[in-house]
This record gives sequence, C-alpha cells and structure tokens, in this order.
Amino acid sequence: VRLFGRIGTGRQARRSVRALTVAASRFAAGDLSVRVSEQAADEELARLETAFNHMADVLEERIEKAAEETRGREAFFAQVSHELRTPLTSIVGYGDLLLADARGLERIDPAERLEALETTDRNSRRLLRLVNDLLFAARVGADMLRLQHSDYDASVIARQAVDAAEPAAASAGISLYVEVPRAAPARGDAGRMTQALDNLLSNAIKFTHDRGRAGVRVRRDEDTVTFEVWDTGTGIPEEAVPHLFERFYRGPGALEAPGQGVGLGLPIARAIVEAHGGTISVETAEGEGSTFSMTIPVGVTSPEATQAT
Ligand SMILES: Nc1ncnc2c1ncn2[C@@H]1O[C@H](COP(=O)(O)OP(=O)(O)O)[C@@H](O)[C@H]1O
Ligand SMILES: [Mg+2]
Repeated sequence: VRLFGRIGTGRQARRSVRALTVAASRFAAGDLSVRVSEQAADEELARLETAFNHMADVLEERIEKAAEETRGREAFFAQVSHELRTPLTSIVGYGDLLLADARGLERIDPAERLEALETTDRNSRRLLRLVNDLLFAARVGADMLRLQHSDYDASVIARQAVDAAEPAAASAGISLYVEVPRAAPARGDAGRMTQALDNLLSNAIKFTHDRGRAGVRVRRDEDTVTFEVWDTGTGIPEEAVPHLFERFYRGPGALEAPGQGVGLGLPIARAIVEAHGGTISVETAEGEGSTFSMTIPVGVTSPEATQAT
C-alpha cells in the first residue's frame, strides 16, 4: 500500500509540475486567465500551486488596470485632438476667406463677412474654454485650486447661468426653468460657482432631447445653499454613475450627443464644490432625466449681505 501510494504521489507530483510549467508558459504568452487546479498531495507542491495562482491573480489585475488606463489615455488624446482640430479648421478656413477679401482677391458681401467673423469668434471662445478646462483640471490635479471668496447671492448667479444657457437651450428646442428664492445670500467664489452651474446646465441641455425641459432650483437652508440642476433628458445608466466625476470620463450617450466635451465638466464642478467644503451628488433614472445637486455651506456672510434677504 505504501509503495503504491508513493508511486501514486510521484505520478501526481509530476502531473502538478507539468501543469505549472504549461500554465507559466501560457501566462507568459498572454493568456492571463490561466490557473492550475490546486490538488497536489505534497505540501510544498500544493503551496507552489496556490502561490502560482495568487501571483496570476495579482498580475492579471495589474495588467488589466494598466491596459484600461492606456485605453483611457488614448481615447482622451483622440478626443482632445478632435476638439482642438474642429474649431481650428473652421478658424483657419474663414481666416483665409477674410484675408483673400482684404487683399482684394475675393469679394464677399457684408452678411457673409459678418457670419465668418461670428463663427470665428464662437470657435475661438470654444477653444479658449477647452484650454481653460484642461489647465484647470491640471491645477486641480496638482492641488492648486484657489478660491476668491466674497458675499454673493446664489439666486442671482443661478438666474444668470440660466440666462446664459438660454440661446443653447433654444436652439436645441429645450425650455429652461428657474426657481429661486428672492435672495439667497452666501459666501464663496461666485465666479467658480457660476462655472460649476454652467457645466451642469450645459450637460442638462446636451443630454436632453428636443422638446425636453431643464432648469435650476436654489434652496437656502439654515447653514447651506443647494443648487439643483435638473433635466428631463436621457438619464444615466446605473453602471456609469460611479464614474461620472472621474476626469475624462464620458458616458455611453456622450458620443452621439451633439456638442463638445472631453469629460471635464463634472470633475471640475466637483472640485469647485469640494473646495467650498460642499458636496455634489446625482439622482438619475434612464429615460427620465437627471438631477445634479450641489450643497455648500453658506459661510459667514457679512451684515450687508444678510440684510439683503
Ligand atoms: N444631465 C446629464 N444627463 C445625462 N448624462 C449626463 C448628464 N450630465 C453628465 N452626464 C454623463 O456624464 C458624462 C461626464 O460629463 P462631463 O464631465 O460634463 O463630460 P462631457 O460633457 O464632456 O461629456 C457625460 O459624458 C455623460 O455621459
Ligand atoms: Mg459636460
């Protein structure tokens, strides 16, 4: 029985070693899912099998994470290049036309000239906005976000943000609504809060279909002010929600959505809100719409600002 057992063990040991050798070379050849079955009777060999499988688990996870990051970076560079090229191509094209006109080589009528200049203006601003967002994101990454605090009225900046978004909403066939208290005094960086509101509103418009609705609500509680930006748009699939605030993340609907973006709007809004000591969150249902909420502490407002209530 003993002899028999030893032969059996020896044969099994050889089988384990062979399986490990095969698995190691398949792994090296790129099959990251290969594992050995842990069944050696010999204690040392059994430990080796477990160690091999553990090593394979760890490596597989790391390699996949690195590949995902690379894919993300490549997609980001492709997107940024595209976002830069489209307006630049238009600027260069209209620039050539205006130059030819100015040199008397071509004749364009005043209406055409105006359109060329307006398009150039719009595209230059779009480029500037994109470059500013990229710089801002880099600064946030380096923890260099500085706020300029002052007393402001949250109702006023909400109304202004809605007014500024009106032309884009109108051309997309979306009605905008604003519900704000008569005054909502707060202390913070009004310019940055406006930027955060603009980002949320531009998403609300971009991801809402024709004849949809979107809007901003402001609520002033004891110590906080809350901005809600809502829409009756596409909503966001559950699996995308945890990634929304990651830099350069764009959801499944983003590629079809008209207009531009490189996935910086939400991370920038979050950085601004968090720099104010606040929080940002989302409630969404696919096919029904989304509501993004930013709640920030109002801070200590000066007496004049409080009197405005
Ligand atoms: N109001 C919204 N409705 C539906 N999806 C949204 C909304 N806001 C944001 N998203 C999703 O979150 C992603 C990230 O938003 P954002 O950071 O502003 O990037 P971008 O607008 O450049 O795509 C979008 O690509 C989209 O998938
Ligand atoms: Mg956006």
